[in-house]
Amino acid sequence: MSGAIRVIDHLWNEHTSVIVAARDDILFVPYIGPSLCTADEFDDFRIDPRFFARGIVGGGLDIEVTPALIALPSQGWSGTPGLEVSRDGVLLPLDLRVAETSWDKGIDELCCVLTDATHNVGVEVLLSLKETNVFTIDATVKNLSDGTLAISTAHFNVPVGDHAAEVMTLGGRHAMEAVQQRTPWERARISLENRSGRTSHEQLGVVFAGTSGFTEQTGEVWGVHLAWSGNFRIMCDGVTDTRKTIQIGELLQPNEVVVPPAESYAFPRAVVSYSRNGLSECSQNFHEYIRSRQPHIQRPVVLNTWEAVYFNHDLETLSALATTAAEVGIERFVLDDGWFNGRRNDTAGLGDWYVDESVWPQGLNPIISHVRSLGMEFGLWFEPEMVNPNSDLFRAHPEWALDGALAHPILGRNQLVLDLSRADVREYLFQRIDALLSEYEIAYVKWDHNRPLIGGASHQQTQGFYALLDQLNQRHPNVQFESCASGGGRIDFGVADQVNRFWASDSIDALDRLEIQKGLSTFIPIEMLGGHIGSPTCHTTGRKHALSFRAATALFGWLGVEWNLLTLTDKEKNALQSAIAFYKQNRAFLHSETFVRVDHPDASIDVRGVYSPSGDGLFSVARLHSGPSNHSAPLRFPMLKDAGELTVEVIHLGAPRWALLRALPQWITDSPSTMSGTLLANVGLPMPSLLTESSFLIRFSQAVHS
Ligand code: GLA
Repeated sequence: MSGAIRVIDHLWNEHTSVIVAARDDILFVPYIGPSLCTADEFDDFRIDPRFFARGIVGGGLDIEVTPALIALPSQGWSGTPGLEVSRDGVLLPLDLRVAETSWDKGIDELCCVLTDATHNVGVEVLLSLKETNVFTIDATVKNLSDGTLAISTAHFNVPVGDHAAEVMTLGGRHAMEAVQQRTPWERARISLENRSGRTSHEQLGVVFAGTSGFTEQTGEVWGVHLAWSGNFRIMCDGVTDTRKTIQIGELLQPNEVVVPPAESYAFPRAVVSYSRNGLSECSQNFHEYIRSRQPHIQRPVVLNTWEAVYFNHDLETLSALATTAAEVGIERFVLDDGWFNGRRNDTAGLGDWYVDESVWPQGLNPIISHVRSLGMEFGLWFEPEMVNPNSDLFRAHPEWALDGALAHPILGRNQLVLDLSRADVREYLFQRIDALLSEYEIAYVKWDHNRPLIGGASHQQTQGFYALLDQLNQRHPNVQFESCASGGGRIDFGVADQVNRFWASDSIDALDRLEIQKGLSTFIPIEMLGGHIGSPTCHTTGRKHALSFRAATALFGWLGVEWNLLTLTDKEKNALQSAIAFYKQNRAFLHSETFVRVDHPDASIDVRGVYSPSGDGLFSVARLHSGPSNHSAPLRFPMLKDAGELTVEVIHLGAPRWALLRALPQWITDSPSTMSGTLLANVGLPMPSLLTESSFLIRFSQAVHS
């Protein structure tokens, strides 16, 4: 028979409650949901454990099975085990029970020590509900025996509300990342497995489960993310127990992690955000969590040379590009791929991190001095984890490449992956990058990773990557890093602790970017998402877009430009200059206030923006494709309901793009006007007729009363 349930702790803040309990000392988290009491009530508020005892039904075991945080078959769990460890090739029938709990007041963290004395395995679990409304779960498996311990599975089992009925995942492909996909979640298991050795384009390590039809502003939503840049597995399980749980953890291959006596394995952190007001609020919790871990920095406008010149580096052209860049307001000039030995195209050179004197006879000093003399910072591209077989490095050390020794190694973009589990490989890379960062005045590194890994070793590789990046961060604390992997292939909270920016996608097509940035913004704060204004015809899709649309899309990110500015007409130059100036005026606001994606019933209309508690706001309204009716539904801004009277202004970053225009809605005028926040929230602004693949901006500010 099953024993009593005891409540171990009630983690609380004004928004969220998390209950931590044990049945027969098996640790579980029966509740993550709305806050259950007020601050005043908290001390006397008792959680009645009977709410979590469901009784025992026929056709199964004679105990009530608990969906443990680390779910184990020996405790009756018949779904995927949470922890599988073997010793001497034999799988241990682990039975972990709570031996000790303690509360660390300083860091608001609950520590639960689980032990299996028979098998000499211990797990220390740390649970914390942050002020930013996210619940974090960490755990460390300790080998308490004399033999080694091989770990092949390590997942947390995170309960979400049983009334969650849909799952939203994010995935796609190179140049079309983070597309949202919804699946009904009934009595089924929805499973994601990433074996690409990096976070991947195909699926991100985050899922959102919510009540039926949850929207940006409505429904209950639980977001669960694994802070990890390697292989992972996520399973939304509604079958094993009928309770809805999300198992999440690193995906390990047999013997990928072997723990010697007295050592340990740390699970990557699981980060959980709960909202009762839809997906946007769930995202805002994630954003605040990441913001609380990042230094607040000014994010300079970037010019990236990739789509301007690709591999065709020459001092004269790049100096002219820098001069024009400074004229339009660029603050950081980033020299992309093509500067190092042998790198005239993508078949050679990776690994040889020396400035190529055939292209840069005087090194990088002439271009850097020119860039600096124009008042801009300088940034440089690297792809440290990779090597081309056609490189001096590979010729000297073929054994440093994963798969390099195979008769038929599989190449990706003509390259192999270096084995970062090796200290000598990391040391070589550290020496080379450190030498360049020390010799030259470099403010920023774009760190790329352009092919997947195959055949395993993802754990050691990911740890090696973190260690190398950490070492460089320590040595060069003022250098900022961007995480790129053929665009958005390495975006997660694991690497977010060490980088300031993510390159969201190799597609800077403004229409696709709205979709990509929408997906990524579900968990990454927008200021970390690199958004570039590209050339009028997008290089990856061939589509043409007006500057106003390209600029308004890139504005809701960390702004950059990736366009051969030497081809600009005067008109384009002026418009680009104004768009950049507009970003700079609004940057501090956009990067520190609350980002929201706003519900609109017409799927062809996209509304998103940033607002402050006082009701100041900057929103973009885009028409993605043609809609079926002459008039679309009004634009409602529920977050402005208590803002009182607001000044409303329409802004175009270029020429207006109204469609079939006989008369605009009356609220659209050339000068700002005053409107009621209550009406903006409840009635909404009549939506003007807009050309497809176009947008305009609306600014709300507190009305000045004389
Ligand atoms: C990747 C990146 C691009 C660019 C190229 C250079 O594709 O995503 O932005 O840096 O590599 O080779």
